[in-house]
Amino acid sequence: MTDQSKIPLPPELRSASGPSLIERASGSFDFRTLTRPVVPDLPPAPKPSAPKPVAVAVPAAPVAPAPVAAPAPFAPPPPETIVEVNRFTGAYHKIDREHLREQCIIEPESAVTSTLEEFRIIKRQLLRVAAESRGGQGTRHGERILIASAHPGEGKTFCAVNLAISIAAEKDNEVLLVDADFAKPSVLSTLGLPGGKGLMDALADPSLPVEDCVIGTDIAGLYVLPAGNATGSDTEYLASARTNAVLDRLTAHSPSRIVIFDSPPVLAASPATVLANHVGQTVVVVRADVTGEAALRDAVGLLGACEDIKLLLNGTRFSTTGRRFGTYYGYKE
Ligand SMILES: Nc1ncnc2c1ncn2[C@@H]1O[C@H](COP(=O)(O)OP(=O)(O)OP(=O)(O)O)[C@@H](O)[C@H]1O
Ligand SMILES: [Mg+2]
Repeated sequence: MTDQSKIPLPPELRSASGPSLIERASGSFDFRTLTRPVVPDLPPAPKPSAPKPVAVAVPAAPVAPAPVAAPAPFAPPPPETIVEVNRFTGAYHKIDREHLREQCIIEPESAVTSTLEEFRIIKRQLLRVAAESRGGQGTRHGERILIASAHPGEGKTFCAVNLAISIAAEKDNEVLLVDADFAKPSVLSTLGLPGGKGLMDALADPSLPVEDCVIGTDIAGLYVLPAGNATGSDTEYLASARTNAVLDRLTAHSPSRIVIFDSPPVLAASPATVLANHVGQTVVVVRADVTGEAALRDAVGLLGACEDIKLLLNGTRFSTTGRRFGTYYGYKE
């Protein structure tokens, strides 16, 4: 990295009670600067793309949008081109609520917590874009949301799981959480679910219906697609034409389904860059005071295939063991 400066917290958030779990990034960083061409010390993005508008996930953030022309509306595919698909047919498992609690993951049915409230705010903007996309407006495949970040440990899986549980609570939506971190999958362990075949198996074996790999859970509306077995050619499989067909099967005839992809670090592995071609929205998780500005620019540049990139500033006060600490994370007790 050529620039090691950190993303600072906005002064107003440095309160005595400490920063919020998911902070608003506005005021701490000029997102519009990310729309300038990236000068990376990393390999360039796979395909050149025009600078993209970047916004925070929190709607009220006073961030001026970059002066970029709105993407052209697209016509939804005619019904006959959508692959006929049955309901998900994989295993069904219960999720241990205590296991969720230990990792600060939202517990469905529990009292309102700060984490729950923050993800409620974040999901609204994402769901709005998804709904517009389904109506043929704005971005294509807005119902597919990639969770990415520059480096390991910045909270991608934490945010992907919390966002999925939050969206599953919506009356009008169900959610499929896809573990696309093939080298280091952690969605199943985070949710306390057993292993099984997953996306990479379905991509590598055309005879395996992807819906057979999807795990149903006792959290209403929440489904999980494991990463599956890594192949050594994961990126090539992801980049293949078959990926489009497999992803289409995940949402065909399910207009209310949101698909969330957890991914490996953008600057350490290529799947996120490739997946950016397949999704309509990307959320880049930024760890305040940790993520380097140059790394963030590089990551956003590599995700440039996605039209709609948002930044989500993850809180500063968490332990990398995932255990709660301090009074803030004792909120629910
Ligand atoms: N806001 C937060 N509050 C509490 N714990 C958090 C928070 N964000 C992340 N963590 C914890 O920090 C650890 C690292 O987070 P996580 O696994 O989500 O990072 P990641 O970006 O997915 O990492 P990797 O790239 O290695 O997959 C986990 O134990 C997670 O539970
Ligand atoms: Mg992860």
